[in-house]
Amino acid sequence: MIKHLRSAADLDAATATLILDTAAEMAALSGREVKKLPALRGRTVVNLFYEDSTRTRISFEAAAKRLSADVINFSAKGSSVSKGESLKDTALTLQAMGADAVVIRHSASGAPHRLANWVEGSVVNAGDGTHEHPTQALLDAYTMRSRLGRLDGLKVAIVGDVLHSRVARSNVLLLTTLGAQVTVVGPPTLIPLEVGAALSDKTQVSYDLDAVLPESDVVMMLRVQTERMQDSYFPSAREYSRRYGLDVPRLKRLPEHAIVMHPGPMNRGMEIAPEVADSPRSTIVEQVANGVSVRMAVLYLLLGGK
Ligand code: NCD
Repeated sequence: MIKHLRSAADLDAATATLILDTAAEMAALSGREVKKLPALRGRTVVNLFYEDSTRTRISFEAAAKRLSADVINFSAKGSSVSKGESLKDTALTLQAMGADAVVIRHSASGAPHRLANWVEGSVVNAGDGTHEHPTQALLDAYTMRSRLGRLDGLKVAIVGDVLHSRVARSNVLLLTTLGAQVTVVGPPTLIPLEVGAALSDKTQVSYDLDAVLPESDVVMMLRVQTERMQDSYFPSAREYSRRYGLDVPRLKRLPEHAIVMHPGPMNRGMEIAPEVADSPRSTIVEQVANGVSVRMAVLYLLLGGK
């Protein structure tokens, strides 16, 4: 087993499949009255969150607790980080406390890689800048597999703000490792040539959502990440939504069996219409539930739980 999960590229097909299979066993547990396993009793998991998060943070906390680990939640707000303490000094503090795993979310791409040099425990990337978010990709793959029965040969469209999306990057890496055919779709400003070129040996690139929809088994909508945009990438929210938003008429262009995904948080009415987000084709709430099982599997396997 690998020691750290910093990138979806850390996972070969066998390891990724082992995580998904283990997550399925963990999911069976959540149907029971007592949801706890003693697997990580006496181990310490630190959640180190420098960036805002709702789902991911709660999910990692629930996962570690269901495995009986001791959980320490650290958020940059209200800590010595606001006094200017560096990541390295924070890491050394965690090290001194004996963290067996550190789950980190940080606005700087590459922060989990640096952290892994400074702590002895396992490092799990919970989202670093615009770079990667491997456990999101794992929970997305898990959701696709449980809804559609397979990943190999599955046609997946990832739509929207590809440029700023760590979710897109990790999904491209993981899904192609597992045999899916991925097409990234969005305006040229949000899939610039160099990004398209970097992805092109693994994926297709398209600027025409309506052409891609009828061919897709899965359509994954991405949030438009205005907080990461210094320039204007499209004329207006309305114009964006008209070209790249998933509304009810577009939903009807999808094959009958196709599912609609979104990692959250959503801009309802922009990249996804409320009726689509709440439709039976949408797996958005399921993705959140699956996130806990997948993160249990990741922590369990990385820490060599019994
Ligand atoms: C994503 C993230 O933070 O990268 N959300 C998540 O983890 N569920 C996507 C986003 O912020 O748009």
